[in-house]
Amino acid sequence: MKIGILTSGGDCPGLNAVIRGAVIKGDQIYGVKFAGILDGYRGLAEGDMIPLPRKRVRGLSFVGGTILGTSRSNPYERGGLENIKEQLHDNEVDAIIAIGGEGTLSAAKRMADDGIHVVGVPKTIDNDVAATDYTFGFDTAVAIATESIDRLRTTAESHHRCMVVEVMGRHVGWIALNAGIAGGAHASLLPEFPVSIDQICIWVNKAHNRGRAPVIVVAEGFAPLGQEGETTSRGMGNDGRLRLGGIGEQLAPIIESKTGIETRAVQLGHLQRGGVPTARDRVLATRYGTAAIDAVMEEKWGHMVALHGEEITTVDLHDATTELKSVPRDLWDEAGILFG
Ligand code: F6P
Repeated sequence: MKIGILTSGGDCPGLNAVIRGAVIKGDQIYGVKFAGILDGYRGLAEGDMIPLPRKRVRGLSFVGGTILGTSRSNPYERGGLENIKEQLHDNEVDAIIAIGGEGTLSAAKRMADDGIHVVGVPKTIDNDVAATDYTFGFDTAVAIATESIDRLRTTAESHHRCMVVEVMGRHVGWIALNAGIAGGAHASLLPEFPVSIDQICIWVNKAHNRGRAPVIVVAEGFAPLGQEGETTSRGMGNDGRLRLGGIGEQLAPIIESKTGIETRAVQLGHLQRGGVPTARDRVLATRYGTAAIDAVMEEKWGHMVALHGEEITTVDLHDATTELKSVPRDLWDEAGILFG
């Protein structure tokens, strides 16, 4: 038996640990062979695959990025189902482990519905895949964002400034919420809960009046109340005009002019996705990898490995892809007690 592994969508710390876990267990326990499918669904559509022997995955658990490369491709837009079947047949691949976020897993579900032998592994720093408690990469991203807030706070305090820290999260604010709590921010702004500019300025002024340097964490997908849908993480308005920077850079001058407090913005961007995974992410990713190979051997096509509590289990890809996992209101309210 030969199993193809692919990593697709935005990269994420821990991808290599999944690959390592799957290959070591597959080799040692089941005696199966592996093919590395390069650049996600691009490599699947083009039959671009390499042998993935056990020696190739040695020492990989702490290495960031993905040794297989990744892309944001959809196999149905690159040759369709017949091509996928042909490439798998030509490369003698019997089943696929698809590691990715919501887009990748939706394509995996469609392939499973079309009879392809595929098992999913949830990945994203955003932690927005449903039907699992956590995705690997999230813990690392929160750790990086928290350390950045710690560092930005000292320079903000020296200059008596307000600091707006933009973190990733196009659709959900898990990173902003957690880094905001861990870093002791004076507000965390999430896409799920729009608040007005005036409310943000109240929080900034309250912190400033207590002698603190206000720190505002904002998820890239946040839009102020009344302006939802007008800004995007790409800094492009719906009117098609280029706006410099992301939401953080858009908010900073407004906060400064309304409060009179000098304000700077920092966009953490891809720093949150690069580099070594935390120990927690390495463990979760490795467990996902070993569970994925079990799922393949049990022929759980159309399923995804998932974390429920401390237990790794499998769920139907349908449950993981019908909607994104957003931050519940009560968690945001709980954090809100600390604002201002
Ligand atoms: O992986 C999800 C994500 O990290 C989002 O939070 C962010 O908007 C996006 O990726 C950035 O993607 P890219 O690397 O393609 O610019």
